[in-house]
Amino acid sequence: MLANEDLLALMSYDDKWQLAYHQMPVSGWMNDPNGSIQVDGTYHLYYQYQPNSANGGATHWGHKTSTDLVHFCDEPIFLSPDQAFDRDGVYSGSAIQVGDDIHYFYTGNVKEAGFHDYTFSGRQQNVIHVVSPDGYQINQREVVIPHKDFPDEFTDHIRDPKLFQHEDYFYMILGGRLRTNKGAILLYRSTNLSDWTYRGYFLSGDDDQGYMWECPDTFTVDGQDVLMFSPQGVIGDRYHFQNTHNAGYLLGQFDWEKEQFDVQSPFYELDQGFDFYAPQSFVDEQGRRIMWAWFGLPDISPEYSNPTVAYGWQHAMTLPRQLFYEEGQLKQRVVSDYQKLRAHHQQILACKDSQGKLAGQVYELEIKGENIRDLSLDLRQDTKISYHADSQEFVLAHGPSGCGRRKRCLKLKQLDHLHIYSDWSSLEIFINDGQQVMSTRVYPDKGQDTIHLQTDSPCDIDLWDLKSSKGDK
Ligand code: FRU
Repeated sequence: MLANEDLLALMSYDDKWQLAYHQMPVSGWMNDPNGSIQVDGTYHLYYQYQPNSANGGATHWGHKTSTDLVHFCDEPIFLSPDQAFDRDGVYSGSAIQVGDDIHYFYTGNVKEAGFHDYTFSGRQQNVIHVVSPDGYQINQREVVIPHKDFPDEFTDHIRDPKLFQHEDYFYMILGGRLRTNKGAILLYRSTNLSDWTYRGYFLSGDDDQGYMWECPDTFTVDGQDVLMFSPQGVIGDRYHFQNTHNAGYLLGQFDWEKEQFDVQSPFYELDQGFDFYAPQSFVDEQGRRIMWAWFGLPDISPEYSNPTVAYGWQHAMTLPRQLFYEEGQLKQRVVSDYQKLRAHHQQILACKDSQGKLAGQVYELEIKGENIRDLSLDLRQDTKISYHADSQEFVLAHGPSGCGRRKRCLKLKQLDHLHIYSDWSSLEIFINDGQQVMSTRVYPDKGQDTIHLQTDSPCDIDLWDLKSSKGDK
């Protein structure tokens, strides 16, 4: 007899929305990237995973490996919720290499029996430390911060440890929800990775910055200190924070005296599409700061949905994006390794006031111009991208194939560059060399391959069909 996860995997076999070059679950549910690291040439992507249900549940850490960040192998599940301290979910966390070993830290989620709201009572979130010699085997698993040791002013929501090193210390940041319903990031310090001392808030938020901050991450890129996290409950407007939950970053400076993050910028969104959450970054052996994220979002229903549930799976990972600090902000560009998937190439010169028709479903499309004033792009059946310099509005709009996703809008002073990655059921749209990004899932019918472009400005257009990274589809 087939196990549930095998049945789900069979259901997904014949589905037109399976992704050709994005990472998705073999069966069931996928959310946050975890433990991202490169060791001895091999990239390890662990991720929140529930193999038995496309609708989620107690999460495991699934595991995929790659030597080029493009072609991945599915590995056995790395961690399962099989201990008293994590029985309701091996929640998110990170990895750090020290000497020959890889150390992982994650949140063991436990829900107590009885009548609870699981925010103010009934939940434990323990910090667990795992040691592995190679990224595959586990030698040791210990609770390093039991839930009862967290500061009293927090609700039961404290999770998602991210590790970093500074001078003689290891540091851990955790995202939390204060009893006052504000978000905060806690800082712990250690010299041996087992004994941790609470050092206070790395940063705490105001009323308008959300009630809970998930998945914190902090790093320096191109000389700039950055603090990234996923706040829940930020109220948006027409151009900002239009999703139920968001992910973004602050620029600032580590203050090592105070052991705090000194904020020097507003909170910027990392992605203004429909599906992007819980990003995690790491540095690879080439020294690149790479970030990927859950190509999805919690609590999207009833606004929108993913029809792949009928095929036994839901959600995916965004492409790995290299981060740069340029012109006072973070920019994101898909790692250049994906160029190896480029196949048939079409190059077109659009003159002023031109209209053109192209064809493609799984492709990379690059449009370059100088100060493009008006552009409209119809693709993937009923998805439309448009820019009008007069209103300075850049719009991504879906029809029925967005399954409830309708419109996202951002303000843009100037448009010079668009770089779009299209997969069978996804679009990642990079605007002005990665200055702004919009990611979305989309579910067109079979054979919907017309790309219709209209622009008032001369542009260079490159379109590459992309090969599958999983062999022939
Ligand atoms: C973010 C998140 C994390 C948590 C994990 C559970 O999407 O809610 O805070 O650790 O997902 O799957």
